[in-house]
Amino acid sequence: MLKKIVFLSLITLTYTASTAQTKTTPIYLDDSKPVEQRVKDALSRMTLEEKVAMLHAQSKFSSAGVPRLGIPEFWTTDGPHGVRAEVKWDEWDQAGWTNDSIIAYPALTALSATWNKKMSWNYGKALGEEARYRKKDILLGPGVNIYRTPLNGRNFEYMGEDPFLTSKMVVPYIQGVQSNGVATSVKHYALNNQEMFRHTSNVKVDDRALHELYLPPFKAAVTEGDSWTIMGAYDMYKGQYASQNQYLLNDILKGEWNYKGVVVSDWGAVNNTEQAIKNGLDLEFGSWTNGLSAGTKNAYDNYYLAQPYLNLIKSGKVGTKELDDKVTRLLNLAYKTTMNKNKPLGNVGSEDHKAVAKQVGEEGIVLLKNQSNTLPIDLNKVKSIAVIGENAIKMMTVGGGSSSLKAKYETLPLDGIKSRFGKQAEVKFARGYVGDPGGEYNGVKSGQDLKDDRSAEVILNEAVELATKSDFVIFVGGLNKADHQDAEGVDRKSYGLPYNQDNVIAALAKANKNFAVVLVSGNAVAMPWIKDVPAIVESWYLGSEAGNSLASVLAGDANPSGKLPFTFPVKLEDNSAHQLGEYPGNKEELAAGKGADQKNPINITYNESIFVGYRWHDTKKIKPLFSFGHGLSYTTFEFGKAKADKTTIGQDDKITFTFTVKNTGKKAGAEVAQLYISDLKSSLPRPTKELKGFEKVFLNPGEEKEVSITIDKAALSFFDADKHSWVAEPGDFEALIGNASDNIKTRVKFTLK
Ligand code: BGC
Repeated sequence: MLKKIVFLSLITLTYTASTAQTKTTPIYLDDSKPVEQRVKDALSRMTLEEKVAMLHAQSKFSSAGVPRLGIPEFWTTDGPHGVRAEVKWDEWDQAGWTNDSIIAYPALTALSATWNKKMSWNYGKALGEEARYRKKDILLGPGVNIYRTPLNGRNFEYMGEDPFLTSKMVVPYIQGVQSNGVATSVKHYALNNQEMFRHTSNVKVDDRALHELYLPPFKAAVTEGDSWTIMGAYDMYKGQYASQNQYLLNDILKGEWNYKGVVVSDWGAVNNTEQAIKNGLDLEFGSWTNGLSAGTKNAYDNYYLAQPYLNLIKSGKVGTKELDDKVTRLLNLAYKTTMNKNKPLGNVGSEDHKAVAKQVGEEGIVLLKNQSNTLPIDLNKVKSIAVIGENAIKMMTVGGGSSSLKAKYETLPLDGIKSRFGKQAEVKFARGYVGDPGGEYNGVKSGQDLKDDRSAEVILNEAVELATKSDFVIFVGGLNKADHQDAEGVDRKSYGLPYNQDNVIAALAKANKNFAVVLVSGNAVAMPWIKDVPAIVESWYLGSEAGNSLASVLAGDANPSGKLPFTFPVKLEDNSAHQLGEYPGNKEELAAGKGADQKNPINITYNESIFVGYRWHDTKKIKPLFSFGHGLSYTTFEFGKAKADKTTIGQDDKITFTFTVKNTGKKAGAEVAQLYISDLKSSLPRPTKELKGFEKVFLNPGEEKEVSITIDKAALSFFDADKHSWVAEPGDFEALIGNASDNIKTRVKFTLK
């Protein structure tokens, strides 16, 4: 009997196996087939409803796949300097998971300030690994909007004022993230250069500035970086919202740049079904931020690209050409991300990731001023250190808007300084001022209680007293992530430091000559005390390793090599958007209450055109506080005389400039060789010079290296708005090579035929 049962079950097994073999794998699931064929196959199996369901959110951060066919959902996450904590399905509030903390990486201003492309790749790779481990498919970043005004609350999420630097730094970030099978979503396309009125403004910018300044980083991100998705912005351009904008999305992105990826809307940036259908949007998010607030069974069905779209198709008012194009793009994305069987597993919080965060921080910190070698702190002489200022003890990973993080840990400046110097010197802290004692964003709590009820006078006196009796004073202040500081949704109210810090710094400068000011910010600030302070450091928002990176630079373990990615003007009026352009919008319209809602948008005209940042300061000879590209080191460098391999070039030629950089000091360090091009005579006004090449060179004491930078006519061209094309005008040019935009060391003239 037993024998018989075994025999029978064997027959069943054999039978099942052979039927499975004869059943062929559908093409869309067959890895051996080309993706194009798989996409077509999947598309041909989908119903109209299934296609439309893919085009919009199904929760705060996810969108539907095709459940019947096993095609997975897409999960997105902020972005851009760490993976955001989990929120509830329909709400911004915390989901309350306990496994969603991550490493916070330095904010993008700091990454950009490294001027190190390799560092950007390492950053992207590590961040992408964390996103992958957290099962995310689309990372909502990097941000590449150009720094137009120091008041923009979101500058810290971007890469500065120069389109060339931003383009070169963003490409490796994208490649690093995407090497994990996680898409980037480069944002916010385009012209979201301020937070005030971001939902209710129409930007007016001439074609030349649009193409020379504001579009190039996005172009590089999609054409060179191959970012699989791009995020449309909130603002309007040519009177149409950017996330449903014919010119930006269809004509430029998908037309001229031949973009085949997915256009994602910013959260709540869509408000018109027909424009969303026709003008190039592929995936809609956040239209009702309260999830189900539209008052129906499922608000997601009422998104612009949901039931309303289906109704238009069913009534015959629109065809399915756009629909199939959108779904094709989404399926292509699925094969690179959710359905990519070769993607790595990712990891979170590894020692490698901590090292990347620390190193980017060390390389991004900019030594702005260092009179009489005040820094690094000499522990042979310094036995007591006073650390003063709220930012020495304030967590910065929580706050600032959608980039807010739930970090595994955040080393505060005071902790970093104590652990680096504490064994050899006595480190004491005084508050100095009270700024923002809060620390919560969308339910993520910093857990810090920074309330201090003492009077401002008592707090300051305590600090001055400590400063007076210490060997060295480090003030750590700047901005923070509270509203109207460095934060999303709102802009700064003024250019000066908040919370009376100017007076605190002035008092400390009087109390002790061995004094360094460390600014934690993502923006330039006014420095009325600059002459009285011997050392100034821009330390940015550096994430989990903030305190360690800073201490390492203050001690000289890391030799600073960061360079400013944007200009620090002396005063706000020296900035071109404030002197010539409109900010926060047209004055008369502002007075008339425009910008209050979407029915009454306000115009913002960029009258300054191409003259943004150093392009403006150089050309108008307005001396900045610190110029673009500036940053000091603890060693000294010498540039040799540059030579070009040709004196005259044709339109299709390349030209290479070669020069030496030598470390003439006693410490190993890195210098950023910057190559600017100056068009000596041109039919159109041009900036005095523009960055067209750079190389970070690492040198031991006494070491010399030869550096070569090659350019072609793209580096000589301007955008001719009438011809709608780039033109390199024959004539004389000069290559200017130096270590800051205001410190040119060697020049070479050449002629374009
Ligand atoms: C921000 C985006 C962000 C999105 C999702 C929006 O308010 O502008 O940058 O990715 O929210 O959090």
